[in-house]
Amino acid sequence: MKYAHIVGWGSYLPERVLTNDDIAEMVETSDEWIYTRTGIRERRIADTEETTATLAFEAAARALAVADMHPSQIELIIVATSTPEYNFPSTACQVQDLLGATAAGAFDLSAACSGFVYGLSMAHNAIATESVRNALVIGAETMSRVLDWNDRGTCILFGDGAGAVVLKRSDVPGGVLSAVLRSDGSGGDVLNLPAVYHSPLPMLADYSPNGQKNTISMNGRQVFRFATQVISSSILDALRRAGLTINDVALIVPHQANTRIIETAAKRLKISQDKFFLNVDRVGNTSAASIPLALCEAVEQGRLKPDDNIVFVGFGGGLTWASAVIKWNVTPPEVSRLDRELQRTRYLMARGRSKLRRWGRRWGAILGGSPTPDARMRDAQKPRHHEHPEE
Ligand code: ACO
Repeated sequence: MKYAHIVGWGSYLPERVLTNDDIAEMVETSDEWIYTRTGIRERRIADTEETTATLAFEAAARALAVADMHPSQIELIIVATSTPEYNFPSTACQVQDLLGATAAGAFDLSAACSGFVYGLSMAHNAIATESVRNALVIGAETMSRVLDWNDRGTCILFGDGAGAVVLKRSDVPGGVLSAVLRSDGSGGDVLNLPAVYHSPLPMLADYSPNGQKNTISMNGRQVFRFATQVISSSILDALRRAGLTINDVALIVPHQANTRIIETAAKRLKISQDKFFLNVDRVGNTSAASIPLALCEAVEQGRLKPDDNIVFVGFGGGLTWASAVIKWNVTPPEVSRLDRELQRTRYLMARGRSKLRRWGRRWGAILGGSPTPDARMRDAQKPRHHEHPEE
């Protein structure tokens, strides 16, 4: 049996801050209403040049720097996201290319706000069963692009960002001790985001205030009820599997949906709210990115010490929910500034190599007499006459 230890962590937040007062200029709301109902003061919004993949890359590069690892040591990249730019290539493949992680398999994982814990569990299983040695698990979102900015019920809640961890195989007991994943698809109508160019399935059409648009629909009260019910049971399940009790836990890093949800969950668990780490006031709800983003901030604030037991708990669309228990027992190596600069140079070289491979493919196509990918794309975009096969 091998163990999967978290040895690196990194996060990235776009620079642009959108405050509650800014939103109050767009829809009828106020800082006071938003803060008292959600605990959110401001969130970050991605620049037009930024994508889910570039946010994910920045977080991953920082996590690799903390782990002092070369991207070629990573054998699995999982990106949990609900806001990919493409169905394929996956965001994970884009990150693989940006990192130059030449030995990695890569895929995206869709489990909404629980996605990071689901991804952590998948990567842990791959390491424990010795199919990979090291893995990157990333949560990344550009939620601002899937919001209806006229819907005050949802646009006040979300923000953009990314967080990542590096998991490393070890013989030393610790790391991910347990994970419990759950779902209830009958609640798909409570919270959903239709795929681009697809109308919602009939089962999801019951609750779709945004009609057919590709924006988030939510029944806030039902989400609240669901979240407060599952947080406590999910945490206790994962602790039971790890052979621990709530008293053994140093810190819980929950999905950052909303302060009131966490207050209620803390009461149900009969623990102080201080046991939950919260940064939702400054970043809003960043869906799959929220747990690794909060983890990084908890580390920066010195909230974690070696041998602490910590719990991640995610809950969201699907409906899905998941908890994982982690023993925090690896002290990261010191990485010099020079090493960090070298790592950045590596990524520039990875971009150069990727461009060369693209050019190679294009020239191979031209010399081989077949249309280039650009010409194929132009051809595919030409209007077509729908001909009957027999005509
Ligand atoms: N500003 C001012 N008024 C508002 C706003 C707003 N932004 N949004 C709704 N209102 C109004 C409503 O129109 C309604 O007015 P009415 O009484 O005149 O009809 C009134 O406020 C109450 O609306 P509710 O939706 O019932 O408000 P509620 O008290 O339930 O608070 C909230 C809404 C904050 C969304 C709450 O339901 C909640 O916290 N739910 C959890 C949802 C959540 O956190 N989702 C995150 C995404 S999912 C996830 O990450 C798991």
